[in-house]
Amino acid sequence: MKTIALINQKGGTGKTTTAINLGGALAAKGKKVLLIDFDPQANLTYSFGIKPEKGSITEFLQGKQALQTLLTNKEGLDILPSSPALADFEVSIVNKIGRENLLKDRLNGVKGYDYVFVDCPPSLSILTVNALNATSEILIPLQMEILSLQGLSQLLGTIQEVKQVLNKKLKVRGIVASMYDSRRKLTKEVMEEIEKNIKEKVFKTVIRECVKIAEAPSFAKSVLTYAPSSNGARDYMDLAKEFLK
Ligand SMILES: Nc1ncnc2c1ncn2[C@@H]1O[C@H](COP(=O)(O)OP(=O)(O)O)[C@@H](O)[C@H]1O
Ligand SMILES: [Mg+2]
Repeated sequence: MKTIALINQKGGTGKTTTAINLGGALAAKGKKVLLIDFDPQANLTYSFGIKPEKGSITEFLQGKQALQTLLTNKEGLDILPSSPALADFEVSIVNKIGRENLLKDRLNGVKGYDYVFVDCPPSLSILTVNALNATSEILIPLQMEILSLQGLSQLLGTIQEVKQVLNKKLKVRGIVASMYDSRRKLTKEVMEEIEKNIKEKVFKTVIRECVKIAEAPSFAKSVLTYAPSSNGARDYMDLAKEFLK
């Protein structure tokens, strides 16, 4: 079982979209996949139209509910939903001893999946540190903007710290260029900067800007089922192929 965190402290970089569609593409290839919505904004949960009536990630972290009772299956994916209650929970653990270990301890008992994806909030908060501590690999969706580079070096610094203090086995699986627009000169320049200055792997597959990707959540679907022949669906299937290599 591989556990992978989708992290970028900037909002709107494609974390949730990549969790849904890379996860979905892997499930379509026969892999058993769990998606954990670890963001109090619960975008992943809402993107599948899930209403977490039985409870959410908060009850799972508190040990009040078993994973099985909280899961919803969509498109062959098991989904552990989130809700705004996670924000209150985060505040309540800020001064607790062992606060970095909550997700790790709970995931220890989880078995039977090929891949577990943790969709993180857009911050380097205690929730994100929990995710970095609980997973063995990191995927970084990145927009090809100048300011993304500044955020990226800050993020790689945090990852290095967590690696030294909490989780030695942590590694960056790769950077995924999201919302890629090849007509923009800036896109190529930023890509070149990354390849020159960052030693982490950048996936060859880029996720092109695609309106079907943005539309899919309003139909409670991934782009793979909403628009199977769109560029977005193709790119995520290709990413899954490269990811499995
Ligand atoms: N390749 C893409 N083309 C067009 N829109 C996209 C693409 N990837 C993501 N989006 C849209 O951009 C917004 C932010 O993406 P999201 O995955 O929610 O980012 P994050 O989880 O990092 O905050 C969403 O509305 C999403 O539908
Ligand atoms: Mg998100």
